[in-house]
Amino acid sequence: MVKEITVSGVRPTGKQHLGNYFGAVVNFVKMQEVFNGYFFVADYHSLTTHPKAADLHANVRQIIVEYLACGVDPNKCTLYLQSDVPQIPELYLIFNMFAYLGELERAATFKEKVRSQPENVNAGLLTYPVLMAVDIIIHRAAKVPVGKDQQQHLEMTRDFVTRFNNLYQVEYFPEPQAFNFDSNLVSIPSLDGEGKMSKSKGEQTCIYLTDEPEALRKKIMRATTDSGPTMPHSAKPIAVQNLFDLMKLVSPPETVSFFEEKYNDCSIRYGDMKKALAEDMIRFLTPIREKIVEVSSNEKLLTEIIGDGGSKARENATQTLKDVREIIGIKSF
Ligand code: ADP
Ligand code: TRP
Repeated sequence: MVKEITVSGVRPTGKQHLGNYFGAVVNFVKMQEVFNGYFFVADYHSLTTHPKAADLHANVRQIIVEYLACGVDPNKCTLYLQSDVPQIPELYLIFNMFAYLGELERAATFKEKVRSQPENVNAGLLTYPVLMAVDIIIHRAAKVPVGKDQQQHLEMTRDFVTRFNNLYQVEYFPEPQAFNFDSNLVSIPSLDGEGKMSKSKGEQTCIYLTDEPEALRKKIMRATTDSGPTMPHSAKPIAVQNLFDLMKLVSPPETVSFFEEKYNDCSIRYGDMKKALAEDMIRFLTPIREKIVEVSSNEKLLTEIIGDGGSKARENATQTLKDVREIIGIKSF
């Protein structure tokens, strides 16, 4: 049976935290079993925020290493860098002609960047959704696993595709749909008791996959709680609920119910709960951390995987570009 094509991109943001792991990486690993998955690092996209050259490369490398360490298998999917597929910028150039200024200016992500980096409102930010659309359609993919914040980009992708198909009277590109592989989308809470775990909130509120045991213990012991329940069976404040939620991810169910009971009869000692959580978190992360070190030291393997992934992605992309040039009447002599 021919497997459906899916494309997913990740911005090179460096080391991954527990939220990235449960919210994205685990999904990749499951998807590769079912789909013909194209997974790439969106390094061109990241130029919109002007990273330093050395940081950019280190971040790209780190993401690849961590995805591999977490079980992304290059024998089951195509893992590559956006910048290794020159057909992407070529199709991006073409698709810029089908994207209108008004709609690009209305994108929520663009408006957010205008607010957050007023000193650098470059044209690449404006056309970010065009590049993202091309990432997807270059493989003629119909399914894209993205979170809520990317839904608008997917809608724009469909608009560009429809416009292209209508203008040239073809049904060449499918209209890609967002989909969730797991029906229950997870949101991993931050250690400061406010909102979701995010690297923008700072080192101390994030549990990184590479955190050493001692660092983990410190972060978890410092996590926000309150002075403890005074009434049996009272509702949990958010920060305390967050600790229980983290515990459910990495601890055995007996441990969770033990502390639930202690909470409900008001005898809970958060210090004890945090100690148990820290040790279970260490047990959960240690094999991942060790694998990250192992993969990271194997330059030859990385070069081979990214080389092969790039070749496979280019092969598919070359066919798309050939078809598109023919459809739009670009013909060489
Ligand atoms: P950050 O908020 O740390 O900058 P990113 O925006 O780079 O994280 O997210 C990369 C991927 O990880 C996205 O697919 C996002 O949905 C997922 N993700 C990030 N943080 C969380 C979280 N706390 N819970 C669940 N998924 C998350
Ligand atoms: N814009 C996405 C993000 O910020 C990353 C991305 C770029 C992407 N190109 C893509 C995701 C193509 C899915 C498909 O997370």
